[in-house]
Amino acid sequence: MQPKHPRDSETIMSELMMPQHANIMGNVFGGVILSLVDRVAAVAAICHASKPCVIVSVDKVDFKEPIHVGELLTAYSRVNFAGRTSMEVGVKIIAENVLTGEKRHTNSCYVTYVALDDTGVPTEVPPVVPETPDEKRRYNRAAKRRASRVMDRRYDTGAGE
Ligand SMILES: CC(C)(COP(=O)(O)OP(=O)(O)OC[C@H]1O[C@@H](n2cnc3c(N)ncnc32)[C@H](O)[C@@H]1OP(=O)(O)O)[C@@H](O)C(=O)NCCC(=O)NCCS
Repeated sequence: MQPKHPRDSETIMSELMMPQHANIMGNVFGGVILSLVDRVAAVAAICHASKPCVIVSVDKVDFKEPIHVGELLTAYSRVNFAGRTSMEVGVKIIAENVLTGEKRHTNSCYVTYVALDDTGVPTEVPPVVPETPDEKRRYNRAAKRRASRVMDRRYDTGAGE
């Protein structure tokens, strides 16, 4: 299968936070951020695999600072690493005050997707070929996280006991 570069799957989505996105404090709901993460990461995975993809796991997501109604959220994603049928997608969220241009990096996370064939069975995806030093660093770290997820799942299912 023809390998692909991380840049081939790079996806950017922007969304202006409106009153319907607010919680009772007037800040943006965490679920709105998670929805954006899933949408931007799904597109990156589908672009890499050229197949329908489903989300199987989201690594820890920290909400370090509130996001406010009126801010422009921009989500950046790309496939960092591919296994046989699964891919790790890295997502970065930037909140921008559109009046001042001030930008804050509010969230980052890693999401795993699996490509499915026409019958809904996991199917092979192209390998990732990192080129730049940043891509290679992300690839190597993603490979370690994947190994750790595999171990975690073995323990979760009792297979590692
Ligand atoms: C995706 C799905 C078909 C995979 O089924 P499965 O029985 O786990 O398949 P496999 O064991 O063959 O694993 C397929 C790949 O997923 C990876 N994987 C499975 N569960 C995972 C998890 N929790 N975290 C990270 N990777 C996971 C495996 O490591 C494997 O990767 P590889 O082929 O690159 O080595 C199944 O889990 C599913 O249908 N999940 C629901 C997906 C969905 O509906 N998402 C929307 C939100 S509800």
